[in-house]
Order: sequence, then C-alpha cells, then structure tokens
Amino acid sequence: MEKNIVCLPGDGIGTEVVESAVAVIEKIEQKYGHKFNLIYKDFGGIAIDNHGNSFPQDTLDACLKADAILLGAIGGPKWPTTAPDSPERGLLAIRKSLNLNVNIRPVTVYDAQLHMSPLKEEIVKGTDFTIIRELSSGLYFGQPKYRDNDRAVDTLAYSREEIENILHFAFKLARKRRSHVTSVDKANILDTSKLWRQIAEEVGAQYSDVKLDHLYVDAMAMELMRRPAFFDVIVTENMFGDILSDEASMLAGSLGMLPSASHSINGPSLYEPSHGSAPDIAGQKIANPIATILSVAMMLDQSFDLTAEAKNIEEAVYKTIEQGVATKDLGGNATTTEMTEAIISNI
Ligand SMILES: NC(=O)c1ccc[n+]([C@@H]2O[C@H](COP(=O)([O-])OP(=O)(O)OC[C@H]3O[C@@H](n4cnc5c(N)ncnc54)[C@H](O)[C@@H]3O)[C@@H](O)[C@H]2O)c1
Repeated sequence: MEKNIVCLPGDGIGTEVVESAVAVIEKIEQKYGHKFNLIYKDFGGIAIDNHGNSFPQDTLDACLKADAILLGAIGGPKWPTTAPDSPERGLLAIRKSLNLNVNIRPVTVYDAQLHMSPLKEEIVKGTDFTIIRELSSGLYFGQPKYRDNDRAVDTLAYSREEIENILHFAFKLARKRRSHVTSVDKANILDTSKLWRQIAEEVGAQYSDVKLDHLYVDAMAMELMRRPAFFDVIVTENMFGDILSDEASMLAGSLGMLPSASHSINGPSLYEPSHGSAPDIAGQKIANPIATILSVAMMLDQSFDLTAEAKNIEEAVYKTIEQGVATKDLGGNATTTEMTEAIISNI
C-alpha cells in the first residue's frame, strides 16, 4: 500500500514525539512492505516564525491532498494567545478548514498500567471507554465572539445537524463495542444541552440495541473518578469533551499515553496525541511518545484499514510497558529515544 501522510510536528515536544512516531511508521513500512510518503509542513508557532501565519495556505493545501495527517502539538510561551494570530488559533482553523467534527479519544487502562494511575487499582481496573467529542462547533467557534477591556463574549450554539452527526457516530461505534452510550450535557441549564438531550433520545430510538444514558457534565466529572470502568462510549459537545478528556487521561497515569483521531465526513483525518506541546519539558528528550505512536496505530486502522499493523503497534506498546520501560511521567527514567527503540524492537 502507498499513502501520503502530512506531518505537522509543530512546537515544543511536538517535534520530539513526531520523530518517534515516524520511526514507528518506518518500521511498519519495512515489516509489511508499505510505502508511506511523509510530507513535512510548518504549523503552529513554527509557522508564525517562518511564514507569519500559524496555518499557512501551503500547509492547508498539503493537508487537503493528504491521505492522513499526523500532528505533534502546538503552542508555547513564545507565542502569546492574546496576539491576533497564535498557534492555538491555527489549531481551531485546521479543525474548521478540514471540517474535523468528530474527535475520538480512547482511554484504555491495561493491567500493566494500573500502578501508574493516581486512582486505586480496584477502581481503575477494567477501564476501557472512548470519548467522542464534537470538535468544530460550540463555544470555541460560535459568533458573536469579542473582547474589550470591560466585557467579553463567547457564544455557544449548536444546530440539529451537528448534534445528529456526532450522535450517530457514537451509536455506530457503540455497536462495535459494548453497546452503551453515555451522552453528557448540562440540560438542567443550557438550551443547547436541552436540544442535545432531545436529539440524543431521538437518535437513540434508532439504535434500540444500544443502551443510552445521560449525565450532566458536572456529575460526569465525578463519575469518571468514581467508576471509570462503567463507561463504554461517552459522547459530548466541544468544551465538555475538551475538559473531560484531559481528566480521563489521568486514569491512564499520564497525558502522554492518550492518542486521538479527528474525522470529517469526507476529507482526510487528523491524528494527534491528546496532550499539548509541554513547554516545561520541551528539549529535554524525556517526553512520552506513546500517545503519538498510538495515534499512528489509529491512523493505520481508521484511515488505511491496516488493522493487523495497528494491532501490532498497540501490542508492542503494551509489551514495552509490561517490560517496565517508562518515561519520567510514568515514574521511570527512560528517554524518548529509549522508549521509542523499545517499542520498535517489540513490533
Ligand atoms: N493539540 C495541541 O497541540 C494542544 C493541546 C493542548 C495544549 N496545547 C498547547 O500546549 C501548550 C502547553 O499547554 P499545557 O501545559 O496546558 O498542556 P500540555 O499537555 O502541554 O502539558 C500538561 C502537563 O503534561 C505534561 N505532558 C504533556 N504531554 C506529555 C508527554 N508526552 N510526556 C510527558 N509529559 C507530558 C507536561 O509536561 C505538563 O506538565 C500551550 O501552549 C497550549 O495551548 C496544544
């Protein structure tokens, strides 16, 4: 198989973890006889430095032509978020331009990882859920949006179509898993959430084989800590999903463990770790590359249908953890390169 992958390493540890992920891609190429053409483009802070624009046209053009996109992470203190352009603006722009409306974040805690979780092992054992987050609408995109010295406004808006799309995605995924959807909203207060809950019921009625329950986002934040193993597919709007997925990431012990995939209805998908550019550890070569390596596994499976290759990477990652190889965030002292080499040798 031959595919074109656009790589956007970005800033901070983004460049370090993408380097690891590319080493894994090359190992998969060799082992299975595929050809992955890697096209590197600037994105985020580095693109502001090199082109005066966080998301240059040339980067967008390459992404639109790609079979899949691998993103590291963007941002850092060098590029203030208050400036007219910022890496974070670039991130919103790429999601909007590629119409990436479905974000998938699997959270699986394997037995070998139990000791890394800040929760008691008996609570976290068996945790295996996926958060489906609406990514291209809601509070981060709604208009009007403005700020002056005395007042600031953000707008939370959702259309029926946007809500239906994401809910259908969640129910279809649940059918391939344990047939349980938890829809998260704030329907006791917000009108967008009242509409969300109504549509969740309507869509749910079309999937009578899937159990649907609802939780308010504040209760969900608590339940994720109390009984994480209860959940299967969690579906929610943009900001709630942003916050809950970071909370959920700690179940696995570190933000550095969690991959993600973002899909549009008909364009290329984007794969990235759930974490940011971690300026506090950038350049130290201690970043955990697992989230990005598992994002590559998601790419092979979800964009290229290379299921065996994806499984091979996942199993290599978990074997490496079982062998006790751990970066600093996991309580060990392996460098990014050592962790990457251990995973590659297990592929
Ligand atoms: N998708 C993205 O590119 C993205 C996402 C979130 C934040 N950001 C940006 O990243 C910058 C830093 O944000 P933040 O500090 O809130 O979040 P962050 O995810 O970068 O870091 C949070 C904490 O987790 C640690 N961490 C994160 N990834 C790690 C890894 N792979 N290995 C080891 N430790 C890891 C960091 O050292 C830090 O202590 C900001 O500019 C923010 O806007 C970018």
